[in-house]
Amino acid sequence: MVNLGDVFPNFSAKTTIGNIKFHDWLGDSWGILFSHPADFTPVCTTEIGKLLMLYPEFSRRNTKVIALSCDPVESHLKWSNDIKVYSGYSGDNFPVPIIADEKRELAAELAMIDPDEKDSKGIPLTARAVFIIDPNKKLRLSILYPATTGRNFDEILRVLDSLQLCDKHKVATPVDWKPGEDVMVQPTVSDEDVKTMFPVLTIVALPSGKGYIRKTPQP
Ligand code: BEZ
Repeated sequence: MVNLGDVFPNFSAKTTIGNIKFHDWLGDSWGILFSHPADFTPVCTTEIGKLLMLYPEFSRRNTKVIALSCDPVESHLKWSNDIKVYSGYSGDNFPVPIIADEKRELAAELAMIDPDEKDSKGIPLTARAVFIIDPNKKLRLSILYPATTGRNFDEILRVLDSLQLCDKHKVATPVDWKPGEDVMVQPTVSDEDVKTMFPVLTIVALPSGKGYIRKTPQP
């Protein structure tokens, strides 16, 4: 089990781009690991197809994406053709590598088994985990979805934007925030410092009289 702030395991894996050591593959980038229950399954096909289409958006955010499924590399490569056709992806390459976690070793190490979903042999499948790892190799977000629910990758991009913004400036992003909208000053910024750090500031009046909601335009 990896907790937020922990260094993410530097695992070795067989993938569709050859053997990798995770930290070396990441280099100085942010990284997102998306796990999938199995190859040639409908929801997974829609998800990896969407990852292909969003690939330029992840690259623009200095972020490498990698998928994982518990079938062999040869199966992943065959499945990749289906994913390309299904999603309408027209690139020559397949920019999202897929890890072959045939023995469910990574699934077990990262606690992403879904006990309710089993393969034809009765072995539990991998759930839909999302791990966001920063350039210091620290885990910054983890979400676990059941096999039957496809994820919302626009939300993952939104979280990435929030994480990268809040690493640079002492701000936090409110509910349903979208890039370009106002943000909140972090509670750790003192009232003395706030006006010099954020000259355009709205302090929301509340019954408590505590001025803790301090809005400012996105830096
Ligand atoms: C799917 O990707 O469609 C799927 C995989 C395992 C269980 C349920 C759905």
